Formats: sequence, structure tokens, C-alpha cells
Amino acid sequence: MVATGSGSGKAYYVTTPIYYVNDAPHLGHAYTTVAGDVLTRWHRQRGERVWFLTGTDEHGQKVLRTAEANGVSPQEWCDRLVEEAWKPLWRHLEIAHDDFIRTTEQRHTDRVREFVQDLYDKGEIYQGGYEGPYCVGCEEYKLPGELIAGEGEYAGRQLCPIHKRPVEILKEENYFFKLSEYGDRLLAHYEAHPEFIQPESARNEVVNFVRQGLQDLSISRSTFDWGVPVPWDDRHVIYVWVDALLNYATAAGYNQNQDTFESRFPADVHLIGKDILRFHAVIWPALLMANGLRLPGRVVANGWLLVGGEKMSKSNLTGISPRDITSHFGVDAFRWYLLRAIAYGQDGSFSWEDLAARYTSELANDYGNLASRVAAMVGRYFDGVLPEATADGGAEQAVQDALAKTVADADRKIGDDVDFQAGIVAIFDFVKQVNGYISEQEPWKVAKDGSPEGRARLATILYTAAESLRAVAVLLNPFMPESSQRLWESLGAEPGLGALADQRVQDAGEWGRLPAGSVITKGAILFPRLEDRPGA
Ligand code: MSP
Repeated sequence: MVATGSGSGKAYYVTTPIYYVNDAPHLGHAYTTVAGDVLTRWHRQRGERVWFLTGTDEHGQKVLRTAEANGVSPQEWCDRLVEEAWKPLWRHLEIAHDDFIRTTEQRHTDRVREFVQDLYDKGEIYQGGYEGPYCVGCEEYKLPGELIAGEGEYAGRQLCPIHKRPVEILKEENYFFKLSEYGDRLLAHYEAHPEFIQPESARNEVVNFVRQGLQDLSISRSTFDWGVPVPWDDRHVIYVWVDALLNYATAAGYNQNQDTFESRFPADVHLIGKDILRFHAVIWPALLMANGLRLPGRVVANGWLLVGGEKMSKSNLTGISPRDITSHFGVDAFRWYLLRAIAYGQDGSFSWEDLAARYTSELANDYGNLASRVAAMVGRYFDGVLPEATADGGAEQAVQDALAKTVADADRKIGDDVDFQAGIVAIFDFVKQVNGYISEQEPWKVAKDGSPEGRARLATILYTAAESLRAVAVLLNPFMPESSQRLWESLGAEPGLGALADQRVQDAGEWGRLPAGSVITKGAILFPRLEDRPGA
């Protein structure tokens, strides 16, 4: 039996794939990374220690060929792209990773050699020959049955089903990992841990694949040298996927600092795209089993962002730069939309029109307007000082109950189930309910009643609305850190409650946290009309 999950004192450890640096990042890469960031921030706001890792996958033929085509060394190519494109984009998108691993770093390559040497010493690796169709886009040998027949310029050739490019027949004398011996143990693990692979469709795919029987895995290449040399035979470099998967261990301190390693490893959640499911749900756990290391808690696969019905990618010439979107809609709306519009785990189309429509109806109208109206009314009727609620009735109780339920639902959906969409829907349903409450209570009419009872009702309505917004700021902070911070400031919450990032999700539904007397200011509009945004 293999141990999984987190013991006490271990951080909640989240990863993204490490991305190939054959080109600049596009929307598809941003998608998984934003998801990782939101999950990380959510768990941080649960008060957990979280360790969030991302990085770049720099070895292998795919990167080598791109560098050659651009007339620079692969190292120069990677350095340039990482520093000029990848890291700046993650900063721009407010990705709060704790580490960024590059597979060309020595802290990684040394440990990869040790890991593979260890497997060799344990008798898990042998020398053999292999011939088969290889897709450089996937960096993977394909099974003949997976290939599709080419048409047009590729007529008569066999294509990779993902990249729609011809495969190459590779014949090599390589080193092999005895993957075929791990089928039963993997199946037993999937059985004992139904949560290990998500969503269900991904789990079924993997289980069926493993049931058909696994082949041993070629783990070295000898026809090019852009990679980590095999420790006992430097005519070979380690297969780029083995090199890459090990990042999750090397960055966490494998063979370097045992205490650090144990305080992080294994990952609680590996977020990946479904294109790389088998690597993470079959090869990775088998490598860990072979080396006696603990298995990750979950591998959660997202679907594909589609453009014109096809997977968005540079090789399909459909890669869209995230900055094209953020310059028009802002970073917060971009982050929110990716997780709002598409159910995590399913394929979904990224649509400019749909983003514009949702921005206007959900962010600007439902949410942004609520915040502006409440601040304006506290300003107008109470000189900007939040009054006390002394006249709570059934309508207020309904809002309080709805909030408690929203917090519980959102926490379960986002924090436990990695179902961002359902979590966002729960939070925005609450926003709609607060809007409905204000429409029904009509504070602008109550304001005309200057009696003590009238003032008490008015105070109660505005307190209820502002206190609801306090909770919304906490719940939306992982998705939209910039606008949530502005709302927090506008509510004057910091003096009484402290920094927004320190607010616990669990406390968000506790009614009455925002102290009466907080100074509420009408800051800049949270989500200006699209035509009023700079760059629109
Ligand atoms: N380098 C490997 C991963 C190694 S992890 C040990 C790799 N890199 S990649 O640059 O091709 O990035 C793949 C990941 O980017 C996908 O698994 C997915 O997370 C994300 N996406 C890339 N295009 C995507 C879409 N069109 N839609 C959704 N996610 C996409 O594979």
C-alpha cells in the first residue's frame, strides 16, 4: 500500500505543468496557471500553508529544434523566453507561485541524475531497442492505433491525433524503465483512491488504458544531446518527460534537504491539461513507486480551450496572447472569466463576445454597481460612516443565512472539489440576492422617513449590504485580487479587520465582522463600462 496525501506539518502543495519554452505563453498555458493560483490563494485564505510550483520544461527535441530554427543555442533561447515572456506574464497575471523551476537549472539536473541512477541501481532500468512512431510535439512515442490518416499536404502519412502533424519513425537503442510491471499496482491505487484522477472521464480513460497492459518506457535518447546526460552512459540523455516530471520532486527538495522535502512532497494537487494525463497518472506514479516515494493526492485534468472547435495551440496557429485580452478587459476579469465560463475538466470555447457580455452583466452590473451604490448611499445618508444595524428583521436574516450557505458551498466546491465554476456561481448568486434585497428594501425611500425608526431601518439596510460586500471581497479575492483589494479599501475594512489576504474563508460567513464606524469611501468604479476602459 502506498501512502498518499498530506501528513501533519506538510504544506498543501499545488503544481502546474512546467511548460515547453518553444514559444511564448498563450491562453491555454495561462488557463492552468490561473487555476493553480486561485486554488493556492483559496487554501492560503483557509489559513493553510501552501506551496505553489510552476516552471519551464527546457530540454528535448521540441525546444532544440525551435532554437535551431531561430539560429541560437537552446540555452540562449530558453533564457530569453523565460525572462522576457514567461516570468513577466505570470507577474502580469498576479500569479503568486512560491518557486519557478527551470529544468536546465543545476538544482534540477543533479537531482534528476540521482533519481535515475537510483532506479538503475534498483534494477528498474535495462538496455533495449525500440522502433515506433514518435511525435516531437508531444515528445512521445505513439501507439500505431492512435494515429490518424493524413489528408491534403499530408496525404498518405500518419499524423499525431493532437498535433495533426506527421509522426517520425524512430529507431533507437535506449534505456527502458520497467513500466509494464506497475499495471496492477497502479490499478489498485486508482481503485483505493477514486479521487486520484479527476474528472471521472479522465479517470476512466486512464483505467482503461492501464487495463490494456503497459509497455516499458524508453527513458533515454541518443540521437541528440539537449538534455540531462544519463549518469552511467553519457552517450544518452534522459527522456524529456522523465526529466520534466521529476521537477515536482527536485523543486520540493528531493535529495537535497530532507526536512524541506517532507514538508512539501508529494503534491496534493497536480493541475494539468488532459493532453498530458497519462504522463501524470501512469508514468509519474509508477516512477515514484519504483523509487519508494509517496504518491500525489490528486491529478486534476482541465479540458481544452478551443478556438474554432480545435484545441488552442501555437502549432494550430490559434495561440492567443493573454495580453490581448487583459489589455481590453483587465487582469481580474480575465482570471475570473477563464474559471467562470468553462466548467473545469470540460472543453470550452474562449469567446471574446461571451467575455464582453459576462463582464457587463455579472462584473459591471451585478457586482460593481452594487459596490458603488452601497458606498454612495452610506456617503449620502451617513456621511460615509458605516452605521450600526439595530433593526434586523426577516429580510436581513435571509441575507445572513444565504451568506452562510454561500461560504460553505464555495469552500467545498473550490477548496475541496476544484470546481471553480460552481464556486463562482454560488458567490454571484449571493451578489444577486443582495441586489434583490436592496431593490425590495428601497433604502432611497426609507431615507425620506426621518423618524428614529426610519433611520434605524436605513442603517440596518446599508449595514447589511456593506457587510455582505465584506464577505464577497474575501470570497472573490483568490480570483480577482486587484478589484477585491479596492473593494476592501472602499469598505474601510482594514483598520478593523486587517489585511484582505489574511481573512479566513471559514470566517467570511460570520455575520457582523465589519465594525460599525468603518469609513466607507466611494473609490474608482470596480469594473468600468468596457467603452470607458483605457485601451478599449
Ligand atoms: N512540458 C510539458 C509538461 C510537462 S509537466 C511535467 C507540456 N508543456 S506544454 O507547454 O505543452 O503545456 C501543456 C499544458 O498547457 C497543458 O497540459 C495544459 O495545462 C496547458 N494548455 C496548453 N494548451 C491548452 C489549451 N488549448 N487548453 C487548455 N490547456 C492548455 O506539455
